[in-house]
Amino acid sequence: MAPKGLIAGNWKMNGLRASVAEIEDLKARMAATPVACDVLVCPPATLICSFVKAAQGSAISIGGQDCHAALNGAHTGDISAQMLADLGCSHVIVGHSERRADHGESDADVQAKAAAALSQGLVAIICVGETEAERDDGRTIDVVTSQIRGSFPDGATADNTVIAYEPVWAIGTGRTPTPADVAETHAAIRAELVALMGEQGNRTRILYGGSVKPSNASELLTVANVNGALVGGASLKAEDFWGIISACQ
Ligand code: PGA
Repeated sequence: MAPKGLIAGNWKMNGLRASVAEIEDLKARMAATPVACDVLVCPPATLICSFVKAAQGSAISIGGQDCHAALNGAHTGDISAQMLADLGCSHVIVGHSERRADHGESDADVQAKAAAALSQGLVAIICVGETEAERDDGRTIDVVTSQIRGSFPDGATADNTVIAYEPVWAIGTGRTPTPADVAETHAAIRAELVALMGEQGNRTRILYGGSVKPSNASELLTVANVNGALVGGASLKAEDFWGIISACQ
């Protein structure tokens, strides 16, 4: 049986205190209409507390966008998995391509962050994806499977680990791979997960991310081995995010 869908919003470095109204709006929509998938919002660290509070009594989970590999210590400006768990987060995104690019995070760094997340009872959402040049060279599957192998933590299970496939060239650009391309890459990711985890690999969620919006959500979410979406820009407004959540069957 396919795993239950997960629609996750990645707010990136967006949102101010007034943005809590979007969570209240989403909560009201979810109270009025049952949804078929799990729903997660990952705000910037500054808003985690208020979003956790606003989401109380709803099925909305709140997550972080990154965590340090250590649980505490002299790491100015960083946030640990322990801190996220303490605030009421259930998930954390690790290895987003913006962090790999802007902060030079390697697969080994991402693996250590994912391990820290698991140690604190958080679900690690491990992001992978090829650049446009890598795609043009026909290296998509090689790049993505090698990122998964390199970033995969010990102790990963279908319940504590999610893979998000996000082609770098599709993020924030309005461009998406064709459903056939998504199907091919997700099938390769599934095979890699089964090789790494055995039977659990069939139950591990694989999200697609990169320019998902209400108008293309149905098409992308019904591709084989797509078990949900990681949504950037279109997760910032409850109305748009709801359009994607409603497309998840
Ligand atoms: P996007 O971002 O939906 O704005 O393309 C997705 C992501 O980077 O997670």
